[in-house]
Amino acid sequence: MKKQICTKLQFFMKGLEQRLTDNEDFFKTVDIEFKSGAKTFPARMKYAGPGRLNYSFQGVSVEIAFNELGQKVAKEAENFDQMHLIFSERGTRILVDADNKDVKVKYQDAVEEEAKENNHQASAQIGNREYFIKVGQADGLLKAIGIMTEDGKIKNDMIRKYNQIDRYVELMDGMLKELGEKTGPINILDCGCGKSYLTFVLNFYLKNILKRDCYFIGLDYSKGVIETSKKIAEQLGYRNMDFYQTDIKRYLPDREIDLVISLHACDTATDEALALALRCDSRTIVAVPCCHRELLNQYSFDLLSPIIKHGIFKARLADLLTDGLRSLYLEAKGYKTSVIEYISPLETPKNLMIRAIKVKESNQKALEEFSELKKLLSVEPAVERLTEM
Ligand SMILES: C[S@@+](CC[C@H](N)C(=O)[O-])C[C@H]1O[C@@H](n2cnc3c(N)ncnc32)[C@H](O)[C@@H]1O
Repeated sequence: MKKQICTKLQFFMKGLEQRLTDNEDFFKTVDIEFKSGAKTFPARMKYAGPGRLNYSFQGVSVEIAFNELGQKVAKEAENFDQMHLIFSERGTRILVDADNKDVKVKYQDAVEEEAKENNHQASAQIGNREYFIKVGQADGLLKAIGIMTEDGKIKNDMIRKYNQIDRYVELMDGMLKELGEKTGPINILDCGCGKSYLTFVLNFYLKNILKRDCYFIGLDYSKGVIETSKKIAEQLGYRNMDFYQTDIKRYLPDREIDLVISLHACDTATDEALALALRCDSRTIVAVPCCHRELLNQYSFDLLSPIIKHGIFKARLADLLTDGLRSLYLEAKGYKTSVIEYISPLETPKNLMIRAIKVKESNQKALEEFSELKKLLSVEPAVERLTEM
């Protein structure tokens, strides 16, 4: 290619170098085809650690720094008639085509392009539900987290999990938009992450679909699930995630947190998640509690004894009181809360979702109501105790 075209190419590649530096966690590959006459010569660059790329061409692999990308490509291009380059990051592709006449740059939605290449209609539908995380668009992710078989089918025994996490994403969509634009990533903390299905799916949705910068922390005290989560992140090439084996109540983040999530964190682990969210002043919180044991043996209310003499009534009322007091305590701490049944009780009876958005410093009226209810019921809810510890 002519010298002046190669200079122009190097100029465009400088822009990609900057993008690579800014979006390092989301970079996937650079695939290049150099052409001379009818012959094609493929080259590939892969991530090789912070600030480094591995460049393979004609059987030779070398490591280069991010800021050598432009020069390397432009220099190589001098020896050929044409070049077609695909710069891939999660969710976006940038195509650079150069020949002796010009250099052209085009942006593509990587999710749609990959679905087309896989010959897939990206319109996952099971029953009447239109999914947010669609078969066809998210196959790599769904396979890695064990929801899809290798030949592209949702596993029968994983349909419930798929429904739950997809609906969670759907209900968070509005909140994510309320977080608005911010400089730097949206920081999300998943408490009691387990194998991190939810966190992986949210990561995909935020970055690949919404194209938002995001960073995830998963916490769980089980070594096994933390190791599995780390492995899946590595397999997917998701570098914007960290997983820690820890008790939720012992953890303090080293950065501002925008959203704390928890899905079926057992018993008072949900309170630990809420307390951590309050301690780190998270802007938003979404919690789906699991089993409740804490208040069952604490609460008493004489007027209701003719009803709660039946164990099942006492247990169900304890569940409602636990989640009601959790929600009221968040209000007292200045959050606007909403509580919904997030999925059909046929999918799981643990289907209540508490959503909270910080709107003011604190709410005196809600705090007084919370204190009065505690007295009336003779309870000491864990959420308060853990927040103030
Ligand atoms: C029912 S699983 C749910 C996992 C995941 N959120 C999901 O929905 O697939 C609950 C997880 O919370 C973890 N857990 C419970 N209490 C915890 C605590 N105090 N600190 C850290 N992890 C906890 C358990 O180890 C378990 O992996």
